[in-house]
Amino acid sequence: MLGGPGHGPAILAGMDTDSFDTILENTWRQLRRATADETSALHRPVLATVDRNNEPDARTVILREIRRESRQLFVNTDRRSSKGDDLVLRPWGVFVFFDPESAVQLRILTEIRIHVEDEVTAEAWRKLPAKGRRRYLTAAAPGSPAPAPGAGVPGPDESVDDAAGYRHFATLEAVAIHLDWLHYAPEGPARAEFDWDEEGKVSARWLHP
Ligand SMILES: Cc1cc2nc3c(=O)[nH]c(=O)nc-3n(C[C@H](O)[C@H](O)[C@H](O)COP(=O)(O)O)c2cc1C
Repeated sequence: MLGGPGHGPAILAGMDTDSFDTILENTWRQLRRATADETSALHRPVLATVDRNNEPDARTVILREIRRESRQLFVNTDRRSSKGDDLVLRPWGVFVFFDPESAVQLRILTEIRIHVEDEVTAEAWRKLPAKGRRRYLTAAAPGSPAPAPGAGVPGPDESVDDAAGYRHFATLEAVAIHLDWLHYAPEGPARAEFDWDEEGKVSARWLHP
């Protein structure tokens, strides 16, 4: 259980968001649900990183898996993409989610580890349908110059070398360190932040929105 005030602002009363514990509980539950629900706004967060020139970068990604106990978020990517290299140098990323239905914005600062050809990628690859796997079969890296739009991704009827796609495949394992929760309610916003220490112990406080 979290310390600090047990109850949030009056605006949240009756909205099942009346304590830090409940906010966290709802957040992880909604994120986990979103992994399997393509229609959920939480299914496609923006992941912001810092590149090799110390400049910010951001892109849409698909949330593939959530492990609540270990505060892990999983995303698939092409190991040749620029963020792959950037994350080796600067292993932090911020996931930004906005769910219009609940009017909640989440900003989750994470420490990111890249998995390549290990048990984590094997499991993620197994879950990926053939269409998704084909995206990893471009001859050149994402972001490199192409002769034509969409060049390089094999069509659905072309026979492909599945193993070659897997060699380009990577999974990002992101562990939440800090969560900024903003309920952007029409009646007035409320905001809280959560921090996890090295032992995984969480602390929370309300913030002025
Ligand atoms: C709806 C949508 C979902 C996407 N999902 C992913 C994803 O899960 N992983 C990924 O690496 N790129 C994904 N992309 C592509 C990225 O936004 C980005 O263009 C690509 O990863 C190259 O970015 P980078 O040069 O920053 O590495 C997605 C794009 C869109 C529009």
